[in-house]
Amino acid sequence: MNTSETAGSTLLRAGVLGGAGYTGMEVLGLLARHPRVEVSFAASRSLAGTPSPVPGLSYEPPSLEACGEVDLVFLCLPHGVATRWVQDLRDAFGDATPRLIDLTADHRPGSGNEQDSVYGLAEVAAARMPDARLVANPGCYPTGVILSLLPLAEAGLVDPARPLSVHASSGVTGAGRTPRQDLLFAEVAENYRAYGWGNRHRHLKEMRALLPGLPLIFQPHLLPVARGILETLTVPVVPGTSAQEIRACWRSRYPEDSSAVRVLPEGLPELRQVVRTDLLVLGAEEVAGIDPPVVTVGAALDNLGKGAAGQAVQNMNAMMGWPLNEGIRWQP
Ligand SMILES: NC(=O)c1ccc[n+]([C@@H]2O[C@H](COP(=O)([O-])OP(=O)(O)OC[C@H]3O[C@@H](n4cnc5c(N)ncnc54)[C@H](OP(=O)(O)O)[C@@H]3O)[C@@H](O)[C@H]2O)c1
Repeated sequence: MNTSETAGSTLLRAGVLGGAGYTGMEVLGLLARHPRVEVSFAASRSLAGTPSPVPGLSYEPPSLEACGEVDLVFLCLPHGVATRWVQDLRDAFGDATPRLIDLTADHRPGSGNEQDSVYGLAEVAAARMPDARLVANPGCYPTGVILSLLPLAEAGLVDPARPLSVHASSGVTGAGRTPRQDLLFAEVAENYRAYGWGNRHRHLKEMRALLPGLPLIFQPHLLPVARGILETLTVPVVPGTSAQEIRACWRSRYPEDSSAVRVLPEGLPELRQVVRTDLLVLGAEEVAGIDPPVVTVGAALDNLGKGAAGQAVQNMNAMMGWPLNEGIRWQP
């Protein structure tokens, strides 16, 4: 451990690869305010030498040497690039490789590369984190889908014989900062469209790995807003399951003092309840006139908050044995 001593307390030394991307900037912003962390480096090739979101810290080009000086590295990189960094770090530092939190899909369930990582769905896997060397941070869409459905499936409330439809919408930052013609303002503004149809979106592997046996139909849409995800699930439930029972199931699984999940007493969540926070807000409502029964479940989260950086910070907290919610945002 290379933890540093500041004013009598020991700070965790952290670095961020891909620090100029959307998730990287968000991680840096949260770490800059975290009371137990010192940000040692913020890496970017394109912005090297310019100020980072951490006061007094400029971006520097990514380097193995800088990673070797810290306790923990956040990998906020394109898919595929993280795998190469993990390999290079292990080759360079062996057992002294810093602990890693990978925000890409490279080490998530269904990637084929998940053997040596812990899947960092914070509220579910926190107990496994203290020993983890590599945490695979979940995808933004799967976070809402899995955290809402897993407790219900485990409680036997979901009927696995019928399809379960997920209508999901994400703001444009979900696609990253690399310029693309289909994400130009003129293409996105005053528009709303589906994409990734055919039940083949790459996040399905992750959801299916955690929710085996549930016939998921996942249809994403592009929302003309910068950030936020709203997911509306039509959940086939076993007869007699009430919305009240579903809310109670979530509440017992996600205590407010040790999770970033909030359960609405009635109604379905809205983006404005979560944007620029690290919360996941869940709601459930019964559906009239359908037999066998279904329940509408709503999940709202900020793709860059609970869907990425907020959850990564929760995972860091769990790895270090700190309170799970230290340094995350409840209010915009
Ligand atoms: N955006 C979201 O809502 C979200 C949510 C959850 C998970 N994720 C995942 O998190 C990862 C990062 O997403 P993002 O949206 O932050 O992407 P992004 O905005 O495109 O940023 C990625 C950054 O990585 C850097 N980079 C690219 N190639 C590199 C290389 N070979 N070596 C070192 N640095 C390199 C780039 O910065 P420089 O060119 O300046 O070096 C770039 O800014 C992705 O895998 C994404 O799928 C994203």
